Amino acid sequence: MQLEGKKIILGITGSIAAYKSAVLIRLLVKEGATVKVIMTPLAKEFITPVTLATLSRNTVLSEFFSYDDGYWNSHVDLGIWADLMLIAPASANTMAKMAHGVCENLLLTTYLSARCPVMIAPAMDLDMFSHPATLKNMDILRERGDVIIEPSSGELASGLSGKGRMEEPEMIVRMLISFFDPQGSGSEADRFHDMLGKKILVTAGPTHESIDPVRYIGNHSSGKMGYAIARELAGRGAEVILVSGPVSVDVRHTRINVVNVGPASEMLAECLKWFPECNACVMAAAVADYTPVLRQEKKIKRGSGGLYLEMQPTVDILRELGKIRQKGQILAGFALETDNEKANAQKKLHNKNLDFIVLNSLKEKGAGFHLDTNRISIIGRDGSVIDYALKTKREVAADIVNHLSTLMK
Ligand code: CTP
Repeated sequence: MQLEGKKIILGITGSIAAYKSAVLIRLLVKEGATVKVIMTPLAKEFITPVTLATLSRNTVLSEFFSYDDGYWNSHVDLGIWADLMLIAPASANTMAKMAHGVCENLLLTTYLSARCPVMIAPAMDLDMFSHPATLKNMDILRERGDVIIEPSSGELASGLSGKGRMEEPEMIVRMLISFFDPQGSGSEADRFHDMLGKKILVTAGPTHESIDPVRYIGNHSSGKMGYAIARELAGRGAEVILVSGPVSVDVRHTRINVVNVGPASEMLAECLKWFPECNACVMAAAVADYTPVLRQEKKIKRGSGGLYLEMQPTVDILRELGKIRQKGQILAGFALETDNEKANAQKKLHNKNLDFIVLNSLKEKGAGFHLDTNRISIIGRDGSVIDYALKTKREVAADIVNHLSTLMK
């Protein structure tokens, strides 16, 4: 019994996959968990509370009040009671409401009151699942630290085939077991919390090199890739120090500590400060290679002639970290190339003393600044090259963290 003593709230929403909840409850109870079921009103159209109450050995909750005796189901008490809240199946509708704090039923109010970790197993038709609104809502939930259990691909209730099938109950239970016992054996444990106990430095975004109090020299980096890596790492249990240049992306996660910087010199100082206590560093920032020799105190006035700025090289941060790295610390960089991509990236990897370098080419369609997709190759110290397909930056982040995780083992 691997869930002995664990208190689990199982939220069930209106999806045909609700029929799988019966098996899910049976498996959870078999592993020793205490399960309290909360159903949305629509969920009751798909499976009866009587079945679920019998299997969970607890009253199924759905309403705020019992109209017969006035008994009040306290969402606050439920939220404090639970060790974990699992919402399976989670419909697109409920996820949208969770993402935006709507609390019109007992399940949603309990979600807002819950102090425990939350796992969400979506189930819906493929087009609903891939709709930008659903994807955005799932990103909001992930950023908040909730774990999304990816649906699998296959035949759907609609008769169509694609991604949207709720993960099988056996697999969900294995994920819960590994969530509570991350050091336990098994591939799910590896996949879910392989970064637990690790502290990772990540840099993201551009740097801004001031010319005068009004202007700066910057670059087109949006920070999206570095932030996606930070989120992926934190989601897998790492404590992340995210040293970020000026960006408009945002992240809120209990395990991500954002350190905001402006110019390359500030990024250097923060990296030197944090790196010694980290197990690894992923340098995704687009650091300026040159900075003005002089920062004018007053705004430069328009003149009749041209303007010439004298620039000096910045310190290569990654190279500095490569010099001071200790045995066991992993160092990864990025290379953005426009020509001779692999050869140039390999040269950087050796010059900077890295374990691997992530190459992205501006030539690739769908890869580059401000896009949500990227296409990378990971080049290893041993000369190995892994080419990946065009993917979302979140999926690319998972590939990079998988690679890092393998090296850290
Ligand atoms: N980098 C760094 N400090 C700098 C410049 C770059 O730490 N002053 C890091 C970047 O964060 C990236 C890697 O070095 O991880 C490679 O950056 P890139 O701009 O591709 O290479 P450079 O070394 O700057 O060489 P070049 O611009 O000539 O291609």
